[in-house]
Amino acid sequence: MFDFWQSLLAALERIAMLPSLIQSAFRLPSRKRVRGDAAGAVRTYDRTMDDLLREVQRLFEAPLEPAKLLAMSGKLQEQFAPKLQASNICMLPSYNHKLPTGLEQGTYLALDVGGSTFRVAVVELTGKQPGSKSMRIVTMKSYTIDNSVRILRGHAFFDWMAEKIECAISDPQVKMINGATSLPMGLAWSFPVEQTSIRSGNLLDMGKGFRATEGLLGEDLSELIMAPCRKRNLPVHMDSIVNDSSATLLSRAYEDPSTRFAVILGTGFNIAVHLPTKALATSKFHGYPQKWLDEASHVLVNTELSMFGKNVFPTTKWDDYLNETHVKPDFQPFEHLISGRYLGEIVRLIIVDAVKTAGLFSGELPQKLDEPYSFETGTLAAMELDESKNLTQATSIFESRHPCSKPPTYNDITFVRHVSQLVSHRAAAYLAAGIHALWYLRTTAEGLTPKSAGRLAIGCNGSVIEKYPLFRELCQSHLDELTTLSGAEPRSIALEVAVESAIFGAAVAVSTLEASA
Ligand code: BGC
Repeated sequence: MFDFWQSLLAALERIAMLPSLIQSAFRLPSRKRVRGDAAGAVRTYDRTMDDLLREVQRLFEAPLEPAKLLAMSGKLQEQFAPKLQASNICMLPSYNHKLPTGLEQGTYLALDVGGSTFRVAVVELTGKQPGSKSMRIVTMKSYTIDNSVRILRGHAFFDWMAEKIECAISDPQVKMINGATSLPMGLAWSFPVEQTSIRSGNLLDMGKGFRATEGLLGEDLSELIMAPCRKRNLPVHMDSIVNDSSATLLSRAYEDPSTRFAVILGTGFNIAVHLPTKALATSKFHGYPQKWLDEASHVLVNTELSMFGKNVFPTTKWDDYLNETHVKPDFQPFEHLISGRYLGEIVRLIIVDAVKTAGLFSGELPQKLDEPYSFETGTLAAMELDESKNLTQATSIFESRHPCSKPPTYNDITFVRHVSQLVSHRAAAYLAAGIHALWYLRTTAEGLTPKSAGRLAIGCNGSVIEKYPLFRELCQSHLDELTTLSGAEPRSIALEVAVESAIFGAAVAVSTLEASA
């Protein structure tokens, strides 16, 4: 009998897209419909946990067949076309047309405004030198952006930024570097921005729960930051503004000249790409100086890919609920399915459903899980990391963050881990479809074919793509499959981690000023 199951599993593994998940479904503990609740009373539930898990598995895995992912890539490409012609919120060209040579040198104050941290660093670029690092963080201060900061409206947010810049540069080490001169500053901004020059840009709608745009939409971002800095007499001046995905591309290209794309996947999601200028309508370069237009053959584009994907990616009822109850429904459909802000929330919604309808956690919701966004993606990642037989680590992580009146059982924790795997694996596959779509766009815009496109590197930054267990590996394997299906050489795209690239990129952007201005 054992042999029969072994060979059945082996056969399934060969045909399955995500073998470990298929295997785990067959190991599901069986559950009865009638269960005692936390208080010992007998309750009946609509379905067993096995049934619910099988449904979740079917819904999350069915779209992941290569042919289906390829079709999603095709639909995304259709969505790109009109936005490359006209849109002031996505496919945003920058003023950076040349990529760095890697020889640029200098010391800069780099600012990185992310979804959950604001970092201020002194970055030194030394250029390529044998045996030494070409980029170095001399000193860095990190400030948490929690909800109390996210909800700061209008100027209050920029005053908060200036206060933190003041704090960071009052560090004796910075004072020593700076002396009496004003520090050249580069900003990596993790929100859309409509560039009006290399050092300025108009504030556009911000996602991630921020309210800083209230009353300030369309105002000059550089001035919004510099005004409170001047009020505090800070010795800084804004030299460059780039989106964080563009910053990642610049910093990665500084080290690896084959870089043409950058992916950010942390709290938020985005991809930057270096495209021929002819891929965008001329109206997208309205207001650009003639000299720039004459010189630029390519341009660094902030795609704001998070905003694409509506009616492209199949969604479940939990995804739809997340969207409907979001402060900005439909603003960033792709991001809702894959970024660190949402993976935990999708799993939380499934847990809430499972507690009510299938008796998970003895029918009682663990602490805080009734609050939206209370189940952090970091908790999911930590639970997935535990591959031990008894899931001791996963259980204690879960219990420490979400205590239950009755200790969670092995089956409860197994359920949560399975759901997390399904949600994160789907995210990795959808990301692969998004990268494929942009890779195809760039390939054709360059007049190449998938076969002649050659190898290229993609700089990857952000907690999910850098740290979530197996995420990058899974995305890479889907990507290999999709590019090969399109006729490319095997492994023609390499996803490479670009550590601290937003902060480095803010500095690299200032260093390339002369070349791009
Ligand atoms: C923002 C992008 C940003 C990305 C990654 C998205 O929510 O719209 O501008 O690049 O997050 O931080």
